[in-house]
Amino acid sequence: MSQRSLFVTTALPYANGAFHMGHIMEYIQADIWVRHERMAGHNVHFVCADDVHGAPIMLAAQKRGITPQEFVAEIAAGRKPYLEGFHISFDHWHSTDAKENHELSQSIYRRLVDAGLIYKKDIEQYYDTVKEMFLADRFIKGTCPRCGAKDQYGDNCEKCSAVYSPMEVVEPYSTLSGSRPEVRSSTHYFFKLSDPQCVEFLRAWTTGNGKDGRPTVQSEVLAKDAEWLGKDGNLADWDISRDEPYFGIAIPDAPGKYFYVWLDAPVGYLASLKAYCEKAGLDFDGILSNPDTEQIHFIGKDIIYFHTLFWPAMLHFAGKPFRVPDHIHAHGFMTVNGEKMSKSRGTGISPLQYLDLGMNAEWLRYYLAAKMTSRVEDVDFTKLDFAQRVNSDLIGKYVNIASRAAGFIVKKFDGKVSTAAMNDPLLDGIRAKAEQIKDLYETREFARAMRVIMESADVINEFVDAEKPWELAKKEGDEARAALHRVASIALEGFRLLTLYLKPVLPATAERVEAFLGLSPMTWQDVTVPLSDATPIQPFKHLMQRVDMEKQLDKLVAEKAPEPVQEPTLPGNEAIAPECTIDDFMKVDLRVAKIVNCEHVEGAEKLLKLSLDVGEGRLRQVFSGIKSAYQPEDLVGRFAIIIANLAPRKMRFGVSEGMVLCASDAKDKSLGLFLIEPPAGAQPGMRIR
Ligand code: 2FM
Ligand code: ZN
Repeated sequence: MSQRSLFVTTALPYANGAFHMGHIMEYIQADIWVRHERMAGHNVHFVCADDVHGAPIMLAAQKRGITPQEFVAEIAAGRKPYLEGFHISFDHWHSTDAKENHELSQSIYRRLVDAGLIYKKDIEQYYDTVKEMFLADRFIKGTCPRCGAKDQYGDNCEKCSAVYSPMEVVEPYSTLSGSRPEVRSSTHYFFKLSDPQCVEFLRAWTTGNGKDGRPTVQSEVLAKDAEWLGKDGNLADWDISRDEPYFGIAIPDAPGKYFYVWLDAPVGYLASLKAYCEKAGLDFDGILSNPDTEQIHFIGKDIIYFHTLFWPAMLHFAGKPFRVPDHIHAHGFMTVNGEKMSKSRGTGISPLQYLDLGMNAEWLRYYLAAKMTSRVEDVDFTKLDFAQRVNSDLIGKYVNIASRAAGFIVKKFDGKVSTAAMNDPLLDGIRAKAEQIKDLYETREFARAMRVIMESADVINEFVDAEKPWELAKKEGDEARAALHRVASIALEGFRLLTLYLKPVLPATAERVEAFLGLSPMTWQDVTVPLSDATPIQPFKHLMQRVDMEKQLDKLVAEKAPEPVQEPTLPGNEAIAPECTIDDFMKVDLRVAKIVNCEHVEGAEKLLKLSLDVGEGRLRQVFSGIKSAYQPEDLVGRFAIIIANLAPRKMRFGVSEGMVLCASDAKDKSLGLFLIEPPAGAQPGMRIR
């Protein structure tokens, strides 16, 4: 493929506090993708910035007795240790209060005015006469108009879940001053998103493809957008102005009015690119107006509306050189032990504490890679899972190969590999995986990429186990020596390939491996450039520690109260079933199935309806009681295992033609329900035996 020009961003974090793990997870996801693209020889501009405007930051600065500018400068100064610590390779970090952003936001706004998409309207809002400012809904509290609960927020009640307008709240008060707010009228500026041309454009854009030919948004995001866009395109217009006092960018020709922070925040992507271009001597307008440039935003699932409706509409109607994004890649949240992270409940994990505990950033990068897919799914962190992936996969399978092979090559063969061994079929088999792995990185299917890589690590380890180089080393004679040379060389070249495959995830380790193998920085082209006896390798230095449960993980993740001990337990709370023969087992025909579609079933409390491809040239309908554990959109595109020869069963909702396999505890449903998924590469219709 010719060289691509990629403009990539992550969401701009609010400059009101330090990064949390959610930020780091997003940066790691984007960084892995970016490093992969750079290794493929593409030209990537990867930028981010602090999102500094808005009332909360203004008020936080006021409380500290400093200016908002001073406040956000302090936050910005604290970013570096995290970004360096987790190996995030942004080309530039900027601020939405920088001059580039003022200019670009105002210029985009003027274009929208010219396009006839901005209008003014007076609206009534609560005004705090003590603080002398209009109040956003979240700064109003009062009594719930529905159930009478006191101290509820201005737009919803936590007690009875009612949603209402702040004007309905009984005995409202300002959370800023405690005073009773007045209703006042003020002129606001609106972006006319309801305009038929906006709706038409957004329908086309959300259902279109990026320049790489892949869908602009993920299927789950498209479903949301379709819902928002509705059948009749009933999008609400967007209030883009705020009255002073406000920390923001002044609206041209509108004294006392500022852009709402969400208008200038995404423009910050462009401002950061512009500042980077100035620093690096690149042509900002040239990059933007080049039709081949691809613009890609990584974001969290909570800000899809802004990025797939407001932002593309702003860009499209602002016109050239602005361009609409090629892709919005949304991810889920990071949970810990299945729960949302929360500082107050002590269920969060802190990125800085992670580093302070001496934990290796690449462990986390690998752990997240091993769990992230291209779908909008939450990623769960548990200590045991983390320890296992790091200690068994990274150390046990990957690093282990180098320590097993390198010693022999250095001690017995002057650091030189056997060139003849480089064409061994085992190595060709691993090289043949490169295209699949690259494709999985490209499509952000990192979990599958990691599985394929670890399968290759298994192949190498099994080879070493079978050939027993430590025994060959003890034997006399040329034959044993040649065999040892061959085995250690194959293992080491295999290790080089694994390092190359893992390089987007483990950049620092890859760098150390390159140094010890005497290689210049590897790119994807190096798959076919094996180790050579012309460059002897250096003595092996320890590459990576194991993670320590007590000294590290237990300290990082706050412990919940231990569960009461139960009497001697049966595995999974269930006795092992009576003995069966292999023939009994073979009667059950288990097949790999792809979940092509999944829907709720009206009137069914526990069921989801699955359409499964079992490689039969048709789709099967299967009802499965997994609704408590999965949302339909979580499942589409995933694989399952089904009993394919189960007698069809007539149910109230239709016929079920099979059953998908799941794991669960017989008694304790709180332990969850887990769909059994075959490893990557398994194809619909393959039999499990
Ligand atoms: O939700 C947030 O954290 C926002 N600060 C994200 C802004 S992304 C972009 F639009 F700047
Ligand atoms: Zn209520």
